[in-house]
Amino acid sequence: MKTFTLTRPDDCHLHVRSGALLKAVLPHTARQFARAIIMPNLKPPVTTVAQALVYRDEILQAIPADLSFEPLMTLYLTSATTLEEIERAAQSEHIYAFKLYPAGATTNSDAGVADVTSIYSLLAALEKQDIPLLIHGEVTDTECDIFDREKQFIDQYLIDIVKHFPNLRMVLEHVTTKEAVQFVESANSTVAATITPQHLLFNRNAMLSGGIKPHYYCLPILKRETHRQALVQAAISGNAKFFLGTDSAPHLTHLKVNACGCAGCYTAFGAMELYAEIFEQANALDKLEGFASFYGADFYRLPRNIGTITLQKQTWTIPAQYDEITPLKAGEELTWKII
Ligand code: NCD
Ligand code: ZN
Repeated sequence: MKTFTLTRPDDCHLHVRSGALLKAVLPHTARQFARAIIMPNLKPPVTTVAQALVYRDEILQAIPADLSFEPLMTLYLTSATTLEEIERAAQSEHIYAFKLYPAGATTNSDAGVADVTSIYSLLAALEKQDIPLLIHGEVTDTECDIFDREKQFIDQYLIDIVKHFPNLRMVLEHVTTKEAVQFVESANSTVAATITPQHLLFNRNAMLSGGIKPHYYCLPILKRETHRQALVQAAISGNAKFFLGTDSAPHLTHLKVNACGCAGCYTAFGAMELYAEIFEQANALDKLEGFASFYGADFYRLPRNIGTITLQKQTWTIPAQYDEITPLKAGEELTWKII
């Protein structure tokens, strides 16, 4: 039987929520990944080091006894974030980044930043303290077509941010367009990007053709096929600026299958299996380890993981539900399985 072994990977963009949902989803991630960058968009958002440490403890409690996993905490940047909090974050061994959500851009982003240009003093502090800035790169202007919001964010804000803060390490999270890929490729080495499995697997037809399919709805929204192809090329390029971030974002099924359904795809149940399928189809399985296990760790200046995981070529059917969460590709087959 064909197997593939690689250094234990890290998930550089993950939503694990809290309470019962956290307990339901965390084992899926801990089974495959050694560490994950934990998104702070709880209700209320995680805006202080003190809150992040409480949240970290809750996550540690949810790790199954037989698995080791390290949550890498982030803080939610708001226009009320203080310079003192940024200093505290820099001094904490558990805080790895600040996350910038334009207000209203996505799930639980109401507390985000209304005018990105108004927080340059905070970005200057992040640059000075050498704390990475993670960016949800979409404009929130309702006049802007939803399929153009990422490109518009780059043109309107990101080009200027990169120019103003040449030493600020930043990650353009869950890139979805060829324009984002080109931007990251041509920016200096401080700028990186994460890529999700859903944006590598699907274009917008998966969500909108033959009936509206809410489990494919996430933000930034799935784009045209040309963009998907650009993302696959970036992921398999071996360019260390592009690394794995699932953006696994669990929502209860009834909140997705809804007249106003939530944005987010649940992929943590089989993240590495999904990526393995994508890389194999692109004839680039040899590039998966860099993308999944090395480049993210290098960006965050963490030691690369010591252990390994092994995937086996084996067909299995994704369950219809995990607790009350419908996974991406529910009921469909995957051809790799972690053993
Ligand atoms: C995420 C969520 O549900 O928290 N949803 C999503 O569609 N990706 C938020 C985010 O990362 O945008
Ligand atoms: Zn996310």
